[in-house]
Amino acid sequence: MTWSLTSAPDLSEQEFSNWSKLLRERVGIRLNPNQRQFLQSQVSMRMREIGEESFGDYFARVCDANNGHIEWSILLDRLVVKETSFFRHQPSLNFVCGYLQDKIVHKQLQESFEIWSLGCATGEEAYSLAMLANEALELAKEDAYFGVLGTDISRIAISVARTGQFSDRKLSFLPPPLRYKYFAERKPGVFEFDHELADKMCFACSNVLHAEEMPKLDFDTIYCQNMLVYFDPQLRHEVLDTIAKRLKPGGILVIGLGEVTDWKNKTVERVARTDVQAYVKLDNKTVSM
Ligand SMILES: C[S@@+](CC[C@H](N)C(=O)[O-])C[C@H]1O[C@@H](n2cnc3c(N)ncnc32)[C@H](O)[C@@H]1O
Repeated sequence: MTWSLTSAPDLSEQEFSNWSKLLRERVGIRLNPNQRQFLQSQVSMRMREIGEESFGDYFARVCDANNGHIEWSILLDRLVVKETSFFRHQPSLNFVCGYLQDKIVHKQLQESFEIWSLGCATGEEAYSLAMLANEALELAKEDAYFGVLGTDISRIAISVARTGQFSDRKLSFLPPPLRYKYFAERKPGVFEFDHELADKMCFACSNVLHAEEMPKLDFDTIYCQNMLVYFDPQLRHEVLDTIAKRLKPGGILVIGLGEVTDWKNKTVERVARTDVQAYVKLDNKTVSM
């Protein structure tokens, strides 16, 4: 018997440039030249799965305005970095907790407290924020309402987030008391978020580049970490300008430390801390025109 192993063709310079442009325009993600091999292997793998042989035809299929959406979303899910974990950046979470405690102390929780985890991947960040808020309110014996919205461009990541199911390994990042309080083992090694808090959580597939099309809801906390870093510096600023509009006066925007430099927006003020990168929305009276 003769084995024939046909290796995938190489992406040409032009093809790499076409894919890079598409990703940048649609999602904001900037590919650098050394990600060419990664792009080629992901695209080739998907092409093999659906029996497509030409990079050009596959590109046209993904770009097809009428029928390309599903294929684009499957491919995109494989191209984005979805790495995440519970309680990933503790200083930032402590900062959110301190902010909420301050509101509790100053009796400023008459309205519902809204949190947005932007680029939440499979949901660990959103669940961490929900547990944190719940713990702060329980400790203060406050019965205020809060909601957590998690959004991400990856449909598959969002569908995982909605199940609230995580492996034993994922839960190892959680302090044990929280793990036992909020999760129940559904089958061996699979734990599900099992708390009334689940009703306060909502996950949606959404592209931050179209954030202005989202329902008009303003937030007390917008938490956006490890996503902007994949965008061009200029686009990072534009995205922040858009999402800053979604903060309530006095609300906070928490991004990954060092992910954005030189961003200036007259509606927010940077918090003077070195361990977190956070901004407070000024109220309308304070904003200098
Ligand atoms: C590395 S993960 C970060 C997850 C989480 N925020 C954390 O810090 O652990 C980056 C996420 O950003 C999402 N993402 C990338 N571009 C996006 C866009 N244009 N709109 C919304 N989400 C996007 C990806 O799908 C991915 O899940």
